[in-house]
Amino acid sequence: MKKRILTGDRPTGKLHIGHYVGSLANRVALQDEYETYILIADVQALTDNFATPEMLRQNIREVALDYLAVGLDPQKCAFVIQSLIPEIAELTIYYMNLITLARVERNPTVKAEIAQKQMEHDLRLGFFCYPVSQAADITAFGAHLVPVGNDQKPMIELSRDIVEKFNALYGETLTLPEGMYGEFGRLPGTDGGAKMSKSIGNTIYLADDEATVTKKVMAMFTDPNRVMGREPGNVENNPVFTYLDAFAQNKLRVEELKELYRRGGENEKGKPLLGDVQVKRELAAELNAFLEPIRNRRIEYSKDPSYVTEVLRDGTQRGRQRAMETMEAVRKSMKIDYFQF
Ligand code: TRP
Repeated sequence: MKKRILTGDRPTGKLHIGHYVGSLANRVALQDEYETYILIADVQALTDNFATPEMLRQNIREVALDYLAVGLDPQKCAFVIQSLIPEIAELTIYYMNLITLARVERNPTVKAEIAQKQMEHDLRLGFFCYPVSQAADITAFGAHLVPVGNDQKPMIELSRDIVEKFNALYGETLTLPEGMYGEFGRLPGTDGGAKMSKSIGNTIYLADDEATVTKKVMAMFTDPNRVMGREPGNVENNPVFTYLDAFAQNKLRVEELKELYRRGGENEKGKPLLGDVQVKRELAAELNAFLEPIRNRRIEYSKDPSYVTEVLRDGTQRGRQRAMETMEAVRKSMKIDYFQF
């Protein structure tokens, strides 16, 4: 039996290069080895976007296009629309009995989101409880592995707790999931901020065209203490170098650039040996080379909306099948399978 992967994204916008580094790269690499389910988490997205369902409806298709564009094969990966899997909602209700309010209150990712979105005085139950619903996402598909960005670690921990509690109470039923985090951790925003976020506007989308990528790269933050190109600079915590590490094909050139940047200095004409502009130009070229095939595939797939619809319909159907199997086992273990003798 193949082991299973479940992971997902909220359909609140197009996916960006941070998603690629955090999770998409792992999904593409593992899709041959694992039975993969990828959840387009509209229910979760509604928890803080309940007033704009039309936006989510459109973005479901954008996210599906991003999946296809990066090379996720819909034969190997089921793209599943979350709201069409009622078993997830059902499981959420039962899991809420296994988890205390205090446990969810401690979740650092939820805390950060509440602060960032200034929801302190208007905190909805739906949003607050989404980590429990995410545990239902993961376990409904019997996932062994969950490739995600490392901001999702608290959700994986919670899921593992729920599985352990459930199995101890009702008997061995649910699969214990394991998190898998991207090689480069979380990619900073183009402004050097901790995270790429649509609302901050510090993102580079997988769908961005060449000119847009170049423009965004040329406006990136670098080492804030390096005012002149001849000064020695820092490559650590410098988003331009972080991106080069993550995306450049020519690793030797990256090492050379780092060396020059750290050293500073100028040539015989008094010009800096390596200014920020030069590093950014090279980054823009590397990023555009990386994004070019993704962009082209995206354009091709976007010409065929009915194919995208079919992929979503078929993936959701396969996902539902799997979730129903889990739900049946759960009902049996919880002794609520009343008419099964
Ligand atoms: N919370 C995830 C995010 O914000 C999206 C998500 C929903 C997810 N359900 C999931 C990720 C299940 C992994 C597994 O990106």
